[in-house]
Amino acid sequence: MELSEAITTAVTTRYFTDEPVTDADLQAAFDYARFAPQGGNRQPVRWLIVRDGDKKRQLRDWYLQPWKAYLAAAGTGDVAIGSESLDRVLRNADHMAEHLDEVPAIVVACAELDGLHPTDHELGRLSIVGGGSVYPAVQNFLLGCREAGIGAALTTLLCMFEPQVKELLAIPDGVVTAAHIAVGRRPKPFPMKLDRIPLADTVFGDEWGTSVYA
Ligand SMILES: Cc1cc2nc3c(=O)[nH]c(=O)nc-3n(C[C@H](O)[C@H](O)[C@H](O)COP(=O)(O)O)c2cc1C
Repeated sequence: MELSEAITTAVTTRYFTDEPVTDADLQAAFDYARFAPQGGNRQPVRWLIVRDGDKKRQLRDWYLQPWKAYLAAAGTGDVAIGSESLDRVLRNADHMAEHLDEVPAIVVACAELDGLHPTDHELGRLSIVGGGSVYPAVQNFLLGCREAGIGAALTTLLCMFEPQVKELLAIPDGVVTAAHIAVGRRPKPFPMKLDRIPLADTVFGDEWGTSVYA
């Protein structure tokens, strides 16, 4: 598969078939993740694959709490969602939340805190760089899943339950959770292209607002 095809069709998958996803099915995706850039080449990312039914049910129960609150806020317009049809995104996301325990595997992206290198944590605002050594690996993993024909949904709502999740999965002190990725086979083919805003709105030259690719 061409890189361009993987990048432009790696849609968030929120409906899954019952077909299992094996460790072997995911190996290439984890391998691609290994090659992602991270500050100082400290390689802090670790992964945990959850397939145990009881553990997935517990993760679903925790996930549903912030998800239903988010859903209620989205219904009142308090949460801004992007350009894609709001109804469809929310319906799909609600289905995944309700059925998270039936997803073949939930892959938890973790990071060793000591291996992160935030350079912006003293700016008096949210640190963006803090996650910078983790999410490139997560994206490589998602692209690896796409190449393998495996659907995936990157989620972060469960990070609110990090202490509980760490206890459930015996994640040691000094290791944090960055994402929980639902993975499995899709009942439908991958789309031809994702719904994204054009380059004209996102790439500027010399001065903010001057589009390079009009
Ligand atoms: C940082 C981050 C957090 C996300 N958290 C969630 C989540 O908790 N639950 C969920 O259903 N999707 C989550 N998503 C997926 C986004 O909703 C998705 O990437 C976006 O809507 C684009 O959708 P598409 O892949 O279908 O084009 C998250 C994505 C990112 C990058």
